[in-house]
Amino acid sequence: MKVLLTGGAGYIGSHIAVELYSAGHTAVIADNFVNSSPEAVARIEQITGRRIPLYEIDVCDKTALSELFEKERPDAVVHLAGLKAVGESVAKPLLYYRNNIDSTLSLLEVMAEYGCEKLIFSSSATVYGAPKTLPITEEAEAGGCTNPYGWTKYMIERIIEGAAAANPKLSAVLLRYFNPVGAHSSGLIGERPNGIPNNLMPYICKVAGGELAQLSVFGNDYNTHDGTGVRDYIHVVDLAKGHVAALGYCSDHTGTEIFNLGTGTGYSVLDMVKAFERANGVPVAYRITPRRPGDIDACYADPAKAEKLLGWKAELNLDDMCRDSWNWQKNSSDGKKA
Ligand code: WQD
Repeated sequence: MKVLLTGGAGYIGSHIAVELYSAGHTAVIADNFVNSSPEAVARIEQITGRRIPLYEIDVCDKTALSELFEKERPDAVVHLAGLKAVGESVAKPLLYYRNNIDSTLSLLEVMAEYGCEKLIFSSSATVYGAPKTLPITEEAEAGGCTNPYGWTKYMIERIIEGAAAANPKLSAVLLRYFNPVGAHSSGLIGERPNGIPNNLMPYICKVAGGELAQLSVFGNDYNTHDGTGVRDYIHVVDLAKGHVAALGYCSDHTGTEIFNLGTGTGYSVLDMVKAFERANGVPVAYRITPRRPGDIDACYADPAKAEKLLGWKAELNLDDMCRDSWNWQKNSSDGKKA
């Protein structure tokens, strides 16, 4: 199938593009490069050996999006385009609601106009808020979001559910990502946060690489085995493969289905620091600091539904995540922008 990746030049999207080609599909990328660069698309082409149609557009721009659909006629869409910085969303809520929801509404309208009836949405475990029970299943209560970014993901899920309920031909899969980390083994594509990283693994990489002095461990008084926050880290390549599996599911189903994409194992901040040091033989200096506002004690998935219905399960382990993250850091720290 020909799959449109909105936000396809980004961290997750670039890895999905690679896995789509590996599975015999083709990709078209629409991206406005607000959080990515055209260099990433060149790297995807280098890995896949294929030329990838690239459209530098804002998905909110219906005219530009319609021109893309007129020319490319995609069979399916993976919708990743959206602003995703939790802290920024608290400071600029209207920007997040306008951008993330408008882009989705434009996409759904253009998909309907062109009869494109398979949609995979990049959602997030953040829609669960602070989970009442662990591990988290797809039946767990969602909507306890703690920031506007999370609310946009939750609202977009509801919008897509409504669109699929009104159009019996539309097949939608909502993928709730846990914590994506790592990079393609080539070291050619990976996470490139703007400025100082908010997320743990990119921050660890920059400390190990000497770009930042030390990691601040945000609190060691959580209700976890060592007091530091526990999360379900999943290798971005496993996450990307989950999208290929979801594409197959879309072909055999209509309506909306929700899946958690996680490993089912939670690791603490200090677990991650030690695993990174062990996997790469490099020290990671850290200090314990107060909690980051809005953080929760622990969050990890019950991935059974995806295994049962998608035939997908995460296969890469913590060493793979740490080693591939470090490889990307070393390959990208010498100014190569991707
Ligand atoms: C992980 C753990 C921190 C940085 C966020 C978004 C979520 C998703 C993934 C988009 C926590 C601790 C972190 C640091 C630290 N993004 N930490 N020092 O907050 O679980 O999830 O990213 O979908 O929506 O909310 O990820 O990597 O920021 O934090 O101690 O410098 O590492 O307290 O326990 P988080 P994270």
